[in-house]
Amino acid sequence: MRVERVRAVSFRCYDRLEADFDPALTAVVGRNGAGKTSLVEAVHFGCAGYSPRTTQEARCVRAGAELLRVEIDGVAVGEPLRTAVGFRPGEPKRITVDGAPARSVEALARRWACLVFTPDHLALVKRAPAVRRAYLDRALGRLLPGYGRTATDYGRALAHRGALLRRVRAGVVTAAALDPWDEQLAVTGAELVRARQALVERLAPRFRDRVGRLGGAREDAVLRYATGSPDSAAALREALRERRARDVERAVTGVGPHLDDVSLSERAREVRDFGSQGEQRTAVLALLLAEADLLGEARGAPPILLLDDVLSELDEERRTLLLEAVRAHGQTVLTTADPRDLPVAPDRLLTVSDGVVRAAPAGG
Ligand SMILES: Nc1ncnc2c1ncn2[C@@H]1O[C@H](COP(=O)(O)OP(=O)(O)OP(=O)(O)O)[C@@H](O)[C@H]1O
Ligand SMILES: [Mg+2]
Repeated sequence: MRVERVRAVSFRCYDRLEADFDPALTAVVGRNGAGKTSLVEAVHFGCAGYSPRTTQEARCVRAGAELLRVEIDGVAVGEPLRTAVGFRPGEPKRITVDGAPARSVEALARRWACLVFTPDHLALVKRAPAVRRAYLDRALGRLLPGYGRTATDYGRALAHRGALLRRVRAGVVTAAALDPWDEQLAVTGAELVRARQALVERLAPRFRDRVGRLGGAREDAVLRYATGSPDSAAALREALRERRARDVERAVTGVGPHLDDVSLSERAREVRDFGSQGEQRTAVLALLLAEADLLGEARGAPPILLLDDVLSELDEERRTLLLEAVRAHGQTVLTTADPRDLPVAPDRLLTVSDGVVRAAPAGG
């Protein structure tokens, strides 16, 4: 699978963006604020249908413009593929796949597979469990599309139950009103726990392997789903029943997968609490590559990797190992503000300045 060309209109700093990519490694260089992240974001917007950088997607529309459009040309499962996404804030996205209108961004995700790293992804190791749960649920959606909905359904039932708990506490309704929501939570919650568990079990050996290949300590790298939630509907139903009085008192649901976490550790220490900058970055990249391995196995072709500002904080050995890893993988687009950070010459070098992308002779 590969993206050959992106074309965009009114995307971030770009009035008109056009860039061609190598089937292997394309490096994008340019000064701070030149438009490197915006370029990667545009490719992701075109392939996945949403920005990896913000949920406020109106920000992607160039200042002064009313709408944006991104077109991607490439090859998927051996066949040429052209997709387009048009977006006017406040209106549904207009999506086409090979010229035919598609109803939702899922139509894009079924055809393209791309994984992205931006420095914001370091939140995966640095920040609170909610970030890791959200990552797991997104990865579930990518790898087992049916389960993407499980997380959404669970979240909805949880919100309803939370609202109802407050009303029960206020004496507006009786506790019996909770029954149908407890039932939904028990069923979708247990399914979500099992799905996340299965996903982490499949990621874990690949994560360990990837940590080792990126310069970390392979034997010690552990990825584990940390859950206190029962994984059968019957047991979760029972746990919810047992907790009901306390839940009403606090007006929050005190058991279930919305409280779970993913633990990333090296040498039996949480990377989050003990890892150095470079180790934390390596852990996130190892997780991304582990998912890329799984996704590649599932799709029969490796996903496209978009790596924004990925080389900073890594020493030269780790930078070299990372580039070896992505080179062996498939198509990668990476950005760097400092071309001297590139330990090897990319197959294609793009320079960005003042909202214009130019191809430079590779290795030059
Ligand atoms: N909606 C928008 N309209 C116009 N310009 C925008 C919009 N959103 C962001 N920009 C501008 O786009 C420029 C490029 O931003 P971008 O994040 O792509 O830079 P970058 O090359 O990744 O920089 P850095 O090396 O600092 O990460 C910035 O000057 C930013 O202010
Ligand atoms: Mg940037």
